Amino acid sequence: MSPKPIVENTLFYGDNITILQEDFGGAPFMVAVVSRPPSDDLEKVENPLSAAIAVQNMLLAAWDEGVGSVWLSFGVAPPVREVLGVKEGENVVALLAMGFPADVPHAPPRDASADHIREVP
Ligand SMILES: Cc1cc2nc3c(=O)[nH]c(=O)nc-3n(C[C@H](O)[C@H](O)[C@H](O)COP(=O)(O)O)c2cc1C
Repeated sequence: MSPKPIVENTLFYGDNITILQEDFGGAPFMVAVVSRPPSDDLEKVENPLSAAIAVQNMLLAAWDEGVGSVWLSFGVAPPVREVLGVKEGENVVALLAMGFPADVPHAPPRDASADHIREVP
C-alpha cells in the first residue's frame, strides 16, 4: 500500500519524521528551523528572513565539515507542523535533511547574476 501523502503533488510522503528521513535517502538527521511568531507587521517579514539567514549559515557551516543538506519547504504542511509541535504564528522556515553524502553531484549551470539585475531610472 502506498504511504499517505503529506503534501499533495509533491514527492514527499509519510506521516512522521522517520518516514521523511527514509524519503531522503535515510538522512540521519533532520533539522526544523522555526521562526518566532511576529509581534508586529515588521516582524512578519523580518522573523522568517532572519531564520532563513540562519539556515544558510547552518548549511555552509555543515558543508565545511563535510555534511551535506537539502533545504525542504514542506514543513508548512499542517501534518508536518503537527509532528513538530509548531505553535500558532510560528513558521517552519526550513526542514533540513542532513548527512554525509554518498555522492556529490556536480553543481548545475547557474544563470549569470547580470541576467537578474534590472536598473531602475
Ligand atoms: C527556501 C527553499 C525551499 C526549498 N524547498 C525545497 C523542497 O521543498 N523540495 C526540494 O526538492 N527542494 C527544495 N529546495 C531546493 C533545494 O533545497 C536546493 O536548494 C536545491 O536542490 C539546490 O539545487 P542545486 O544546487 O542543484 O541548484 C528549496 C530551496 C530553498 C532555498
